[in-house]
Amino acid sequence: MAKLDLSVPDLTLPDGNKIPMIGFGLGTAWFKKPGAKDEACIQATQTAIKVGYTHLDGAEIYNTEEELGDAIRASKVPREKLFVTTKLNDSSDSINDIPGALDRSLKKMGLDYVDLYLIHSPFFAKGDKQRLQAAWAEMEQLAAAGKAKSIGVSNFLKEHLDAILETCKVRPAINQIELHPYLQHGDLLAYHRSKDIKVSAYGPQTPVIRAKGGPLDGYLDSLAKKYAVNPGEILLRWCLDQNVAVITTSSKEQRMSDMLRVFTFSLTPKEVEEISDIGKQHHFRAFWNHIFDANDKS
Ligand SMILES: NC(=O)c1ccc[n+]([C@@H]2O[C@H](COP(=O)([O-])OP(=O)(O)OC[C@H]3O[C@@H](n4cnc5c(N)ncnc54)[C@H](OP(=O)(O)O)[C@@H]3O)[C@@H](O)[C@H]2O)c1
Repeated sequence: MAKLDLSVPDLTLPDGNKIPMIGFGLGTAWFKKPGAKDEACIQATQTAIKVGYTHLDGAEIYNTEEELGDAIRASKVPREKLFVTTKLNDSSDSINDIPGALDRSLKKMGLDYVDLYLIHSPFFAKGDKQRLQAAWAEMEQLAAAGKAKSIGVSNFLKEHLDAILETCKVRPAINQIELHPYLQHGDLLAYHRSKDIKVSAYGPQTPVIRAKGGPLDGYLDSLAKKYAVNPGEILLRWCLDQNVAVITTSSKEQRMSDMLRVFTFSLTPKEVEEISDIGKQHHFRAFWNHIFDANDKS
């Protein structure tokens, strides 16, 4: 599809800041060991910015924060027009010095603030809610210092959020979780709505990429035909139509541009429900499998 001059809608966070509804990730396919810079990652990120992505999703663990910063500078887009996320690594040296970890990330990116800083996962705390609460209190200080405009979490389940909500001064603005029809986490979305915590979805296209051959294939194909898009874009829309922002990525300009078509149509409520119902017939978790049992749908 030709380049579209589309503006990406925002999701308003509980703190009043706005996050673009689609983000370009510098993890998964771009994840690397520390070492030489990945020029392809810099180039792809620059291309993503050029075609219209303003929300960039990084993390300390991806080892691509330098690439993220380089791509921003090469793009010549003013910093304030971009929404940059990074995430606190689970390693003890990061968890035991959260301000130091953010400073290290900012230095790698060559930035003086992030729009969103996330605790990458709750699993470092091994179920100890006081450790989660202490980490969150440090996140609040980073927000107060202006180094992170918004603060949030990733991979948190209800019990982890409950722990933070018990003692927080500022609630997590957003929780970034693996979300697609084959991993709906029971009533976790409804729980977020009840607590006014927004959700963003990573791995949103999993049913057509990593779990192809499941019960949704035929229905996704028929909706893709109806809306003249790709099945993966129907999955992005399934998130967006539930007020969930999506984090995706691609190495291909064509796909980056195609995915922005999701802002030209909506699924009907019945189609969203039908995808959810069919999706529940199958379970597939693509990430953090070392933490969860094979049949754990939480
Ligand atoms: N917080 C966390 O724990 C966590 C975990 C995982 C990911 N994330 C974030 O989420 C971002 C996106 O995650 P994701 O990669 O899982 O997103 P995704 O949207 O599910 O998948 C995108 C990937 O699938 C490939 N792809 C897209 N359509 C395809 C198709 N039709 N056939 C085959 N391959 C296709 C793309 O490759 P090409 O287009 O290059 O071929 C790209 O590598 C990551 O970069 C990271 O920032 C966060």
